[in-house]
Amino acid sequence: MSAPERSTILGWGACVPETVVTNDDLAGLMDTSDEWIQKRSGIKERRYVDNDDGSVGLAETASRDALNRAGLSPADIDLIVCGSLSPDIDFPGNSALLQRRLAISGPMAFDVRNQCSAFLYLMAIADQYVRTGGASNVLVVGSEVHSTGIEYADRSRHVTVLFGDGAGAVVIGASPDSDTGFLASDLHSDGRYVGALCVDGPGSRRKPRVPDGWTDTDIYTYPQMDGSTVFKHAVRGMTASVETVTASAGFSKDDIDMLLPHQANLRINQLVAMGLGIDDARMANNIDRYGNTTAATIPILLAETLEEGRIKKGDLLCFTAFGAGFTWGSALLRW
Ligand code: COA
Repeated sequence: MSAPERSTILGWGACVPETVVTNDDLAGLMDTSDEWIQKRSGIKERRYVDNDDGSVGLAETASRDALNRAGLSPADIDLIVCGSLSPDIDFPGNSALLQRRLAISGPMAFDVRNQCSAFLYLMAIADQYVRTGGASNVLVVGSEVHSTGIEYADRSRHVTVLFGDGAGAVVIGASPDSDTGFLASDLHSDGRYVGALCVDGPGSRRKPRVPDGWTDTDIYTYPQMDGSTVFKHAVRGMTASVETVTASAGFSKDDIDMLLPHQANLRINQLVAMGLGIDDARMANNIDRYGNTTAATIPILLAETLEEGRIKKGDLLCFTAFGAGFTWGSALLRW
């Protein structure tokens, strides 16, 4: 069988933990307030896991959901690609652990470490595999458990209030026709900004990797973030990338029917939309309920927007994201 002209999303799924953590709950743990968090980020609440079912547990539920919607079984998957900055264990990556849970043995599985833009990179990889005949049905998964890796203390409040747990997945395979599916992607990275958003350890350059007493004395195992630098680059990077990806496929930003941006901060997304001339009716956001779930924001948002009936067949969808690295980009898909 020859390789298809286009790949597309055949199924989608999402999973968020049941436990809701409000801004007031966090204000009980550190010096913050519901008013500050809502005003600066748009977040009202987020979900936290309440058991030891880590990012792979959430990924499994989202993956089974996506497989069901695609009408496929795990045995039909010939490539699994996963993104997570909060893997269950240090190594091997979540893709091998998820593969074990889904009882798929043999086909390719690998991980991409691209934080908030991971899902865009993963979809671009899946698209390339399908269009070059390297795989038929690719399971693409983003999943995170942040709640066990952030610090509930005043010195980390600007980071901790932003993040939540969750997972999303899509199955990417051959598009039934050449009019629908992925039309273009635009991906970037600029390693000069590693220090603006990172978790420094544990890492191989430290001996021992996890020193005694690190929780009391050192912040390096918690995320460190220069919020305003990330904010400015995110607005600029996503706006420019959406313009590039639409132009590269022969469209203009006015042709976009639904913008599905990464959910890091509602104010970032509002500025991106304003720069592109996209009104609320053509943009989806759900950060108010989940916070930033990093690699999982885009598939969770896609699943919800479809469920709400806001996407119709033939719509031009644009996904965009920005995150640590910095890495960022966009993808264009005719639904
Ligand atoms: N609660 C209350 N006050 C807080 C706070 C919190 N959770 N976090 C920070 N503050 C305080 C600061 O200490 C500062 O106080 P000061 O004026 O007395 O010094 C004040 O609020 C303003 O802080 P600032 O960092 O300038 O706020 P901001 O408007 O830039 O918003 C972020 C901070 C983090 C919400 C914002 O910079 C942001 O969202 N950046 C991008 C983050 C991101 O996208 N990360 C993920 C990348 S994918």
